[in-house]
Amino acid sequence: MVQRETWATRTGFILAAVGSAVGLGNIWRFPFVTGEGGGAAFLIVYLLFVALVGFPAILVEFVVGRRTERNPVGALMQLGGNVWKYVGGVFIVTGFVILSYYSVVAGWFVRYFLEGFRDSYAGHLAGYESAAAEAGEPAAAIMFADFSTGTGAFLFHTLIMALSIVIIALGIRRGIELAVKAMVPAILLLLGGMAVWAFTLPGSGAGYQYYLSPDFGVILENWQSLLPAAAGQAFFTLSLGMGVMITYASYLGEDRSLTRDAATIVGFDTGIAFLAGLVVFPVFFAGGITEPGAGGAGAIFVSMTDAFAGLPGGRLLGILFFGTVAIAALSSAISLLEVVTAYVIDEKGVERWKAALGMGTVVYLLGVPVTFDLIFLDLLDLFANGILLVFGALVLMVLVGWITPSFAVEELSKGIGDLGVWGQAWIWAVRVPIIVVLVVTLYLGVTDYVDFLTQDFAGWIGENL
Ligand code: TRP
Repeated sequence: MVQRETWATRTGFILAAVGSAVGLGNIWRFPFVTGEGGGAAFLIVYLLFVALVGFPAILVEFVVGRRTERNPVGALMQLGGNVWKYVGGVFIVTGFVILSYYSVVAGWFVRYFLEGFRDSYAGHLAGYESAAAEAGEPAAAIMFADFSTGTGAFLFHTLIMALSIVIIALGIRRGIELAVKAMVPAILLLLGGMAVWAFTLPGSGAGYQYYLSPDFGVILENWQSLLPAAAGQAFFTLSLGMGVMITYASYLGEDRSLTRDAATIVGFDTGIAFLAGLVVFPVFFAGGITEPGAGGAGAIFVSMTDAFAGLPGGRLLGILFFGTVAIAALSSAISLLEVVTAYVIDEKGVERWKAALGMGTVVYLLGVPVTFDLIFLDLLDLFANGILLVFGALVLMVLVGWITPSFAVEELSKGIGDLGVWGQAWIWAVRVPIIVVLVVTLYLGVTDYVDFLTQDFAGWIGENL
């Protein structure tokens, strides 16, 4: 057997993990689910969830990965015994489901990026004016409808999957580490700059009000929908609940402080999402859009195209923005493909390039329906975030908290030294409160999904088939 690769540089792991975490979840998904959740009410629940569940959960994945040095399926089998391979199988399925539509959305960003070279964003919008007047919708929304489905969307989905397959086929070091290095600073700079600019827009004040001042009455009233939405978003954005962090930590040496690395990753990821909100909501309200939840999957595209159309230098900024997000998306996409690929390599002994190509092709095909109709985006996204990720995180907590807790604290302390009471506090948080919260969340997520299937999706089938 070939010796297992490890990270080429000390920062390689951090960069790759941040690269996995920071992606469409922060910039595309976070603003629109925050809008659907009513703004500040959602933000609070989300931040609490990240701190109280997300952070302990990322540590759980880290200790499992570093201890076993295996892909998630192998790791669970090694720790829990043979039945756990079916649980690991759920992770692989989750990877398939998420990556299939993730790639389509990443393709939209590449499209918006490339279109900036053809014409200014104002020029593009002008081209949609007459259709917009006819439909009674903003030109940017018509442009999004045009780009988000159809042949173009299909071709860009193909491109993203092809790129991901090539990067993963080349292997951990050369591929992933190189792709990630420039991305995080670029995103921070761009979003930071845009947030400052958004602050100067007349009328943006209402955006901050909406995004930052929570009404606790609203939270209490709506917790049953806020909790699963916030949980799904937290797991999605941190790349948790399907073994990405298990896989990445499996290539890790024992001299790293896992808590410090986890704090860095959670900090960057949450900070970038928060910044994205500071851009999107002020821009929305300044532009007269007072119901940010209605925009759905197009929210970020519609608000940003409008912004870049009206801004001096907007064309260049737009190219930079969409291009950077596309890179961020690619570094997340490859983490998803890496998990399913590592599984086939480790467990079935398939060569890396064959594994990457085979798994990538299946994912690609699963994503194709999304390029025809966005109902499939909801179908896959709700299933993955409301159910699969929560389930994945839950079973990991049960495994580490109840079945093999003794190794966990010991593994966590490597590279740190004595954890003091924090080690026990962590294990007990995992054992009881976090598991209870996740069970409730999973129940609510399943009910939501059943509602979606019997109402929205059944309705769509009735209309279209
Ligand atoms: N976290 C990434 C984002 O926010 C998406 C992602 C990558 C992911 N790998 C994952 C989500 C694993 C869930 C599980 O864009």
